[in-house]
Amino acid sequence: MRLSRAVLTAAVVSLTAAGLPASATAAPAVPERSVTDVVPAPVSAKADPRGDFRLTPATVITAGRGAGQVADYLRGLLRPATGYPLPVVPHAAGLPAISLELGHDPRIGTEGYRLKVARDGVTLKANTADGLFEGVQSLRQLLPSAIEAKRVQHRAWTVAGGTILDYPRFAERGAMLDVARHFFRPDQVKLYIDQIAQYKVNTLHLHLADDQGWRIEIKSWPKLATVGGRTAVDGDPGGYYTQAQYRDIVAYAASRHITVIPEIDMPGHTNAAQSTYAELNCDGKAVPPRTDTEVGYSSLCISSPITYRFVEDVVRELAALTPGPFLHIGGDEAHSTPPADYLAFERKVQPIVAKYGKKVTGWHEIAKSVPPVSAVPQYWDFGGSNPDVAAAAARGNKILMSPANYAYLDMKYTPQTPLGQDWAALIEVKDGYGWDPAALVDGVGESQVAGVEAPLWTETIRTSDDIEYMAFPRLPGIAEIGWSPKATHDWEAYRARLAKQAPRWVAQGIDFYRSPQVDWK
Ligand code: ACM
Repeated sequence: MRLSRAVLTAAVVSLTAAGLPASATAAPAVPERSVTDVVPAPVSAKADPRGDFRLTPATVITAGRGAGQVADYLRGLLRPATGYPLPVVPHAAGLPAISLELGHDPRIGTEGYRLKVARDGVTLKANTADGLFEGVQSLRQLLPSAIEAKRVQHRAWTVAGGTILDYPRFAERGAMLDVARHFFRPDQVKLYIDQIAQYKVNTLHLHLADDQGWRIEIKSWPKLATVGGRTAVDGDPGGYYTQAQYRDIVAYAASRHITVIPEIDMPGHTNAAQSTYAELNCDGKAVPPRTDTEVGYSSLCISSPITYRFVEDVVRELAALTPGPFLHIGGDEAHSTPPADYLAFERKVQPIVAKYGKKVTGWHEIAKSVPPVSAVPQYWDFGGSNPDVAAAAARGNKILMSPANYAYLDMKYTPQTPLGQDWAALIEVKDGYGWDPAALVDGVGESQVAGVEAPLWTETIRTSDDIEYMAFPRLPGIAEIGWSPKATHDWEAYRARLAKQAPRWVAQGIDFYRSPQVDWK
């Protein structure tokens, strides 16, 4: 039913090889692409059809001070399909150029950018390398979709003319990948990083441990990975990241201007640890490993000093692997931990995270424990009233929005979707786009929202094709909700822009769901 990546890629290559690019057919009434088509929608975009810039073998990329890494990344994006040299140089010396410059523009903040595409050149300006990187993601959407092909395409390469001024609505636009229920190799995680980065997602939350498997090497408790990592849902093969592999994933994400947030879920969702180390159980007996998808049955032993030695060892090693400011300590669905014990646990564990120089993030249940105002509860319920979350917001905590009935990428699109679950909702593309983070939870308004995150739980997800089918086309919608001004939010306009993304996904080999709600080209 779904086409494999190889078939889709072959289809695009043969289409372009057959000489059918847009430039060779009759001029379309609506241009193939425009600065007004970018996803996520920019703050402002003004098309200039007379300002198209033609990429040629003579084009150079100029990088001002601090722009070299993004310039090299841009070159890496443009070279495979064009085959042009596109050298990164300090000065254009009269050659046609794409110029990347850092500056000081108070309008665009730390992730915004200004882009000008004119006949004589392209100029991208930002205050930081992060801003340049986000600007490059817009720039690539101004080129024909074939720019995403992995092999040389013989055709014209025109960048749509105009200007963009852009910056994010919310600081955090995230994706979560559950590598515990099923394990995903480092190359699969990197592929997803590249796929999400193009929609200006700046955070990847990795759910590294759950009942069914432990996925990160902890040197002071080595069997967590080597034994606790063997299992996965339904008896599928497990796996884990060595610390070297994990550092490499984190560095790869950083090269895509994405910060990794590692999660160790506790005090529940801990069966993999408790089946590996007997001393993590109150009765000193190891529980059997489990590969079913029940939730809420496991709990660390709250009264035992060994529990906190374990937590401190894990937090210390994880903090050392984490350049970003946050560690995620889970905290959801601790149904087997009595409420008083839950609070006692949180009050011991949160200071351990601070001791190792990190801030706490956790599922919104942690709001009950009155965490420090630097902590970010991650809201995953259905919206409406939640007094604990509202009280946290009133105390100054920012809240990250991942409503299960809108943002969970593991929910089925329709009853017929062959993958995923439906306990929160069926989420068609329009539903996933149809919410406002600042109007979701009573008492949590615009200034109290940290941002949005689209979690992908993997009980039913086994392959990269599975990830792609659930994330696309919904992830770009969540990214747009997090990035774009509320004033741009409009389903009809969005679905038209989204349709134009599809040829890019085909060229990239992304195996997406062709929702009937979108008129795919
Ligand atoms: C969750 O879905 N249990 C955070």
